[in-house]
Amino acid sequence: MKKKVFVTREVFAEALDVLASHFEVTDNQADKVLTAEELALALADKEGALTNVTDRIDSDLLLRCPRLQAVCNIAVGYNNIDLEACNTHGVMATNTPGILDDTTADFAWALILATARRLNEAEAYIREGRWDKWRLKQFLGLDVHHATLGIVGLGRIGQVVARRALGFEMEVLYHDVRRAPTEVEAACRARYVTREELFGRADIVTIHIPYSRETHHAVGAAELSLMKKSAILIHEARGGVVDDAALVEALRRGGIAGAGLDVFEGEPALHPGFLELPNVVLAPHIASSSEKTRCRMAVMAAENCVAALTTGNPPNLLNPAVQRK
Ligand code: DGY
Repeated sequence: MKKKVFVTREVFAEALDVLASHFEVTDNQADKVLTAEELALALADKEGALTNVTDRIDSDLLLRCPRLQAVCNIAVGYNNIDLEACNTHGVMATNTPGILDDTTADFAWALILATARRLNEAEAYIREGRWDKWRLKQFLGLDVHHATLGIVGLGRIGQVVARRALGFEMEVLYHDVRRAPTEVEAACRARYVTREELFGRADIVTIHIPYSRETHHAVGAAELSLMKKSAILIHEARGGVVDDAALVEALRRGGIAGAGLDVFEGEPALHPGFLELPNVVLAPHIASSSEKTRCRMAVMAAENCVAALTTGNPPNLLNPAVQRK
């Protein structure tokens, strides 16, 4: 008897093909975000699941899915999965690290350039038919070249962002819970500084740390108040790492010059203040969304699922305590 796998949201055909050669696959190509109840019903008789950041995998769900052996997230972030609950219920959890670093770092640069040079405001100005003449002082922005870039979190994505800064001849500062090895600092031409120095000195602060209890509101009123009035904040890490209400407040009172945001607390809802502020570039959690990368993420998750359910030893296992034989 083939094992059963449920794919919780729309995926690329390539990923379904990988799964279909091993398992009986049910999918949700209609792409409806399932409620906790719908997810529990769909997974009640399944051994595997291909999940997304929109699916909450917790003990309430796992209690109702006794056959479930593997939850394979199509994302590098996995704050939607309660790993302790997976350990308790003997469920392997996997993610998709590495393959999205370049694409996600590219998008940080898209946000940096668009925010610094006020591209959204300038575009809206043209689309709204307001462009009547050239002006010397029109949409004056922040120079990115030779500016100081402050990277919060010099992990895989933070490192790629840092390496891209070389072309802009920037000074690169970083802060992380642990200092990076010397060779990483050298490759990134990045200098380790305290949080205070980073927020106080950077012209552009960009956030690249995962969300957890420890990083909840890691960037709040205190950090924002250290930033220069001319500085901008870039955030494509995870909703909740930045205190959105504090950010709206800082932007409203001119405490910082602008923000480029791809993730939000409680997304897809977002703090209404962001919509009223012209100096904020908004994106709907698409930093890893190139055609190639999102497809590779889905295929990688499918391959993780095949390995989990056939060998009990998947690559990218997040909770080795549950590795099966
Ligand atoms: C990730 O991989 O964690 C992204 O946020 C989802 O694409």
